[in-house]
Amino acid sequence: MYSKAESRFLSANFISLIALFLLILAGGIVRSSGSGMGCPDWPKCFDQYIPPTELSQLPANYKEKYVLKRIEKNERFAKLLDKMGYGDLAIKIRHDESIKVPEEFNPGKTYTEYINRLIGATTGLLLLICFALAIPLIKTKAVVFWLSALNLFLVGFQGWLGSIVVSTNLLAWMITVHMLVAVLIFAISIYTYFLIRQPKQVLSINNKQLVYLRLASLLTIVVSVWQITIGTEVREEVDAVKSYFPELVRSEWLAETGRIFTEHKQLVWLYLVVSIVLYALMFKFKISGFVNKLAIAMLVVFGLQVITGIALAYFAMAPWAQAAHVLLATVLFGVQAYILFIFYTKKSELISV
Ligand code: HEM
Repeated sequence: MYSKAESRFLSANFISLIALFLLILAGGIVRSSGSGMGCPDWPKCFDQYIPPTELSQLPANYKEKYVLKRIEKNERFAKLLDKMGYGDLAIKIRHDESIKVPEEFNPGKTYTEYINRLIGATTGLLLLICFALAIPLIKTKAVVFWLSALNLFLVGFQGWLGSIVVSTNLLAWMITVHMLVAVLIFAISIYTYFLIRQPKQVLSINNKQLVYLRLASLLTIVVSVWQITIGTEVREEVDAVKSYFPELVRSEWLAETGRIFTEHKQLVWLYLVVSIVLYALMFKFKISGFVNKLAIAMLVVFGLQVITGIALAYFAMAPWAQAAHVLLATVLFGVQAYILFIFYTKKSELISV
């Protein structure tokens, strides 16, 4: 049984995992509805905690005002990049003309982005609560405490990155970094949950078989992160196509993305192979119980992921599929991570032969 402190932590950890899912879903909706710039400033939205609903609530010069603010912010970011030795990038940001293009006020987009930010702030708060609840565990579960501290730091960093994404007018590679940090925060939250939960799984396998399972589960994670990175690059490419060729309709975007989309599709085969190898090994070693259910869930979610991918590719980038695709990629990663954590449990606790 869990101690009181552990139970409290588990509940907060579980709620933050749900919040992280919602956040990723909200991010997907923001993107598929093109609401990323719905709030031109950060952390407030049009300088307000509750954004305006009508144009009349904004000053007449609102477009120039927020463009100016964004330029100032980018200058600060460019200076930071200069100091860090990324001079070329700083020059690129200083000369990016697209940053100077003002956004029209659109209440629908503003509120979509605003709700996304509210979910983001709630998630940050929940991770702060997790950290506070991990303090009593510092003696018994020090790793959980330090990982919760790291997650709190990462979520703050993610908030800052989010502000840069907005001020650099959704600078493409920033979105990839933003996505990868989200995946990292998510993985850490799953791990702390796993560490406290310690699902009892005793396997009747030998050392060699365990090595195979560890290797196969590690491979699924590596390919998954690789595919998520490539997928995010496909999305960057789609964004670039949209802004360079505004005359194109949704169904024409992908044809212009070139190599990266081909790579994304090809990698699906490798993904399929590593997933089947993992499942086949588990089948061969007669592994049952919770971890087996997870492996089945992995295959089912993979199938759904491919279906949403096909909906994107062949049904004119259906907006529902954009949001579902990114959400499922996260679910899939979460399931794979949990399988990995189980197989990487200390040998003495895991195998009975
Ligand atoms: C296991 C398989 C797959 C994974 C893990 C995966 C993951 C991802 C991720 C994380 C993104 C970025 C989404 C975003 O940032 O909004 C993405 C984008 C994309 N993926 Fe996949 N994907 C998979 C399979 C496929 C397949 C089979 C197709 C099509 C045949 C596909 C088509 C696309 C397209 C078109 C985009 C760009 C979406 C956009 O611009 O909103 N994906 N993928």
